Amino acid sequence: MKKENKIKKNLIIENPKENAGAAISKSKSYAQPKHTPAKSIKEPELERKYQFITTISDDRGEEIKYLGIPLSKLIEDKNGIGDIIGLLWLKRKLPKYASNFVELVIEAVADHGPCVSGAHNAIVAARAGKDLVSSVASGLLTIGPRFGGAIDEAGHYFKWGKDSGLSPEGFVNEMMKKRMLIPGIGHKVKNVNNPDKRVVLLINYARKNFQKTEYLDYVLKIEKITTSKKENLILNIDGCIGVLLVDMLKSIELTEEEISERLNAGLLNAFFVLGRTIGIIGHVIDQKLLKSNLYRVPYDDVLYRLPGQEIP
Ligand SMILES: CC(C)(COP(=O)(O)OP(=O)(O)OC[C@H]1O[C@@H](n2cnc3c(N)ncnc32)[C@H](O)[C@@H]1OP(=O)(O)O)[C@@H](O)C(=O)NCCC(=O)NCCS
Repeated sequence: MKKENKIKKNLIIENPKENAGAAISKSKSYAQPKHTPAKSIKEPELERKYQFITTISDDRGEEIKYLGIPLSKLIEDKNGIGDIIGLLWLKRKLPKYASNFVELVIEAVADHGPCVSGAHNAIVAARAGKDLVSSVASGLLTIGPRFGGAIDEAGHYFKWGKDSGLSPEGFVNEMMKKRMLIPGIGHKVKNVNNPDKRVVLLINYARKNFQKTEYLDYVLKIEKITTSKKENLILNIDGCIGVLLVDMLKSIELTEEEISERLNAGLLNAFFVLGRTIGIIGHVIDQKLLKSNLYRVPYDDVLYRLPGQEIP
């Protein structure tokens, strides 16, 4: 295969959103997976009168209400964080299997050690003496298409592939034609022989508790094709969360329009952002307690490749 025919990861990594839109708009035969204009809920007169419109919470009475339910009632009824996320992010009282799934996702992504981009950045910032908020923000800002932020794109593309009636082979070919890496596929260190336990855990939960896992089933067929090409091209944690969240949104009976609006709003990545914030805060506090000093990359870790210098 000629080099230029190979999939070039830079193509999506430079600007995934722009690339996604551009790539899809060239394809006449398939529905656009995202950027579909949301039906406007704006009412011009109300908008003129009020600066803000909110549809999720109300703090004007004696106590805060989430989607109309007083906090004390939510606590009394033993609602957990998954239930609160359901109310504030999805505007739904989630069934128990779904709120448990949300909590499982948050637990599964809460931390992945100090070496990954988010924790690493936060640790470096904390060791440079920055405060908690700044250090956490510097870690969160690494979330993107290569690290933790492929959930959105994975959900969009897998949903688009299935909804467009593309076979798993057709989907892989279509992505190759677009010269795009498949979001949610591939791992730096895990592979078919060394699977990501988190992915196994989430899949097992969904198989046991969701009524249907039609998008997951579709993606597992895609994974069979990609891993036959290279063993590290497995369904990764981002892809798994993305596709299972689509299955979950379907199962709680959001309409197509409601799902598409939420996907366009970036909802899927939010689960990683929230979950990983827990771990990043942990790393920052840890460094503060350790009184770690300023970090500097050791010279040995850098290849100085300047003109006129030989590579050692
Ligand atoms: C996760 C990721 C960065 C790992 O990359 P990597 O280990 O450096 O993989 P490589 O860059 O060595 O790629 C190896 C080969 O597989 C191909 N490949 C890698 N990921 C691919 C994907 N998602 N879809 C299709 N092909 C892929 C590469 O084009 C390369 O092909 P080549 O050998 O013909 O050039 C990469 O797979 C990726 O960007 N995936 C999509 C984004 C994503 O899901 N990120 C979240 C990760 S949790």
